[in-house]
Amino acid sequence: MRGVLDIPEELIEIQQQVAGGLVEVEQIFAQQLASDLLAVDAMCEHVERYRGKMLRPTLVMLCGAASSPDSKVGRSHAIAGAVCEMVHMATLVHDDVLDEAEIRRRGETLNQLRGNEMAVILGDYLIASAYELCSSLDSPIPSRIVGNASAVMCTGELLQLHNRDNLSLDETTYFEILERKTAALIGASCELGALCTLGFDQQKSDVVVGLRAFGKRVGVAFQIQDDVLDLTGTQEVVGKSVGKDLEKGKLTYPLIHHLANADAEQRGRSLEMIRAAASGSANETGELVDAIRATGSIDAAQKMAKSLIGDAKNELTAVEDSPSKAMLMVLADAVVQRSH
Ligand code: IPE
Ligand code: IPE
Ligand code: MG
Ligand code: MG
Repeated sequence: MRGVLDIPEELIEIQQQVAGGLVEVEQIFAQQLASDLLAVDAMCEHVERYRGKMLRPTLVMLCGAASSPDSKVGRSHAIAGAVCEMVHMATLVHDDVLDEAEIRRRGETLNQLRGNEMAVILGDYLIASAYELCSSLDSPIPSRIVGNASAVMCTGELLQLHNRDNLSLDETTYFEILERKTAALIGASCELGALCTLGFDQQKSDVVVGLRAFGKRVGVAFQIQDDVLDLTGTQEVVGKSVGKDLEKGKLTYPLIHHLANADAEQRGRSLEMIRAAASGSANETGELVDAIRATGSIDAAQKMAKSLIGDAKNELTAVEDSPSKAMLMVLADAVVQRSH
């Protein structure tokens, strides 16, 4: 995961392999999006210039390597990695329209630069291109996995929108949203990596099932940390617009925990501040975040994320020990320690 990992000495070799794989992913990504229209190319170049952490292709590579330490990751892993990153990118381009976000990956969002119409259609171009690329893998199974993950992501976004301004959102629904909107694609990335190594008929094997379950749990933890950063981070460090969850009436783990644990008076005051933030009529986010901290709700969110990482690691029992498995563990820890 670019810019986030502190790599122990003994894992440098696998890290270099992953880095090599990511270069191939970027080439495939750019080739797939190349268009004969200059106007389209310019927008794709903008998308390609601002690279993120590449978490999903990194997981494709590492799970590919970890599922059979004797075999090497190759072209199919790079294609699967590019597909996952492209689906992810499509969701970010659309998400920035929904969130009216100005900054993404330290640059201006497409909606900010070119308007919502362009961003919506570019997101469609990305997702359609991802499916076309996926169909170049010589089995229909990856297309089914990617199609399913994308559909599940949309249901997560829809459930989230359905619960907009629902100030009594419960933890169960919150987790349902996270499992769908974030964890489904991260789980699919892990599964695809393993299948590219073991063969696409191995979906039910213990190693593939374990790696997918690992990815799903890491994905939920990843989104909890993202939700913490949206409240406590700054645009400069996080690299994207922050405070959007409150602005868009999205209750996240720290807020749900806070509202359940604040005394009646504080709860009333916090609800007032949440409503004001969502209607754009006041700017008391600092006071609200202090109140959230005072009930230990940021700590509770991070504790929950760490505990999910522990569960994720426990899913790896069927995976043989190897540097790539060790790297998956390091990556999992980094997901909840990250500041961007
Ligand atoms: C952001 O994902 C959207 C979430 C699922 C929280 P990333 O944090 O992986 O975004 P990039 O790709 O590194 O920019
Ligand atoms: C959206 O969640 C994640 C997706 C699956 C698109 P967020 O709205 O929290 O993502 P960011 O914070 O804008 O990256
Ligand atoms: Mg967003
Ligand atoms: Mg967020």
